Amino acid sequence: MSALLSVTGLRAGYGNVEVLHDVNVELEEGTLCAIVGANGAGKTTLLMALAGLVPKRAGRVIFDGNDVTRLPSHELVRRGLVLVPGGRRMLPQMTVEENLQVAAAAAGAPGFARIPGLLDRFPILQQRRALPAGSLSGGEQQLLAIARALAIAPRALLLDEPSMGLAPKLVDEIFAIIAAERARGTSILLVEQNARRALALADRAYVLERGRVVLSGTGAELATHRDVVAAYLGG
Ligand SMILES: Nc1ncnc2c1ncn2[C@@H]1O[C@H](COP(=O)(O)OP(=O)(O)OP(=O)(O)O)[C@@H](O)[C@H]1O
Ligand SMILES: [Mg+2]
Repeated sequence: MSALLSVTGLRAGYGNVEVLHDVNVELEEGTLCAIVGANGAGKTTLLMALAGLVPKRAGRVIFDGNDVTRLPSHELVRRGLVLVPGGRRMLPQMTVEENLQVAAAAAGAPGFARIPGLLDRFPILQQRRALPAGSLSGGEQQLLAIARALAIAPRALLLDEPSMGLAPKLVDEIFAIIAAERARGTSILLVEQNARRALALADRAYVLERGRVVLSGTGAELATHRDVVAAYLGG
């Protein structure tokens, strides 16, 4: 089976500093792939490079059979490779619904038609739809950040630490949404601090250390791997 997203020999960084060294990652269609690693390992840089927001110095990214290594971020979004960045960036003065409309505009007319269905899937956002996004709690803003990406109907969703800083109940809700989205057939690349939850959900997983992939396997394999347990699962 050929992967929906295939990354080979990727190098990327900032200024003179190379952060990612020869990274190889594959995301199969309809699966969830988790990336775990310590602070500063390069997880965010990997997602940003894949989204076209950090320049790639070497390597190749194939998405849906096409070489997309050099495509700009808006073209990647148009093709269905969509990043939900960490930090829930949104338009705080605009309402929840307007935030969804702005995102949906990226997908043209079909995007707008998706908004009512999305609000049904996110009851909190339905309740808050006329409020400024900036007035939402952190957890509600994270839900909105994910809903905005779904308004584009991504083929592959890149999620950067979606559960970071959230209360346990909201963490459950975020993971339930991620699982449901995979069940709908969306392929997901998930970066998570919460390695236990991420590996439990992952079909495949990678451990990134200092910009290199040091381990990979199924989620179940890595969840019981001695080094992973010791370093990331508090074993
Ligand atoms: N905009 C930037 N300019 C310069 N260096 C950066 C920039 N962003 C990140 N770095 C550096 O790149 C390295 C990898 O950072 P990155 O944010 O990708 O790690 P991460 O695995 O996402 O960490 P965290 O778990 O803290 O989110 C770090 O050494 C960091 O200091
Ligand atoms: Mg990060």
